[in-house]
Amino acid sequence: MQPVDAGLLEHIDRYIEALSAPVDPTLDACLQRARAAGLPAINVSAAEGKLLYLLARLIGARRVLEIGTLAGYSAIWLARALPAGGVLVTLEIDPACAELARRTLRQAVSHVTVDVRVGDAAATLRELIARGEPAFDLVFIDADKPRYVEYLELALRLAHAGTVILADNVVRHGTVLDPAAEDANAQGARAYNAAVAAHPQLESVIVPVLREKLDGLSIALVR
Ligand code: SAH
Ligand code: DHB
Ligand code: MG
Repeated sequence: MQPVDAGLLEHIDRYIEALSAPVDPTLDACLQRARAAGLPAINVSAAEGKLLYLLARLIGARRVLEIGTLAGYSAIWLARALPAGGVLVTLEIDPACAELARRTLRQAVSHVTVDVRVGDAAATLRELIARGEPAFDLVFIDADKPRYVEYLELALRLAHAGTVILADNVVRHGTVLDPAAEDANAQGARAYNAAVAAHPQLESVIVPVLREKLDGLSIALVR
């Protein structure tokens, strides 16, 4: 495989960011807090955040489910897309991350009910299903990659016809191309992409996403 010019990717990403996601003190403060807490900078990029926001707006989402909160950066983008009275449920296994995200989201969004739920996402999803949680209009999967297929199956039980199911990091700089890749994250993403493509209930595409490396966002529509 030809190496990709990382400098070029970064320049293009900054160009898109300058045009579509200008400096935002609330989002910057979220990243600042995450850094101060020693969290890894594995949030979505600003341009990808804008894409999540636009997708939610385009479908008129009122109820959004996120799997993998970290510091709440992508959650801010998603919450901002919702109308007054909208609901964002976001799942996080790390209690410290969840608490940080709660504080940040309380300050960043006031028009939406934000529920940050601590625990293993699959267990929480099963709880939501068991208690008859109403369906979500959009689901964003961004937690541990080896369990993406499990999250997809559970998310489908919380979906309706027209729900959009998104998943981050499904290209991973091309490591998903290699069926023998030893990277468990690449294997997880590859299995997810295959499961989505083969699913009779889903129509989908993968959109490349620029970071320091090339990644991708999976977009699937529930029939
Ligand atoms: N969506 C965030 C980034 C999420 S990073 C953003 O773009 O801003 C992935 C997160 O998933 C981490 O915070 C990690 O703690 C969480 N995670 C990992 N395994 C999990 C699990 N089994 N259940 C719930 N959350 C999990
Ligand atoms: C990783 C996780 C992410 O969600 C991401 O966007 C980038 C990297 C990781 O675990 O390496
Ligand atoms: Mg991610």
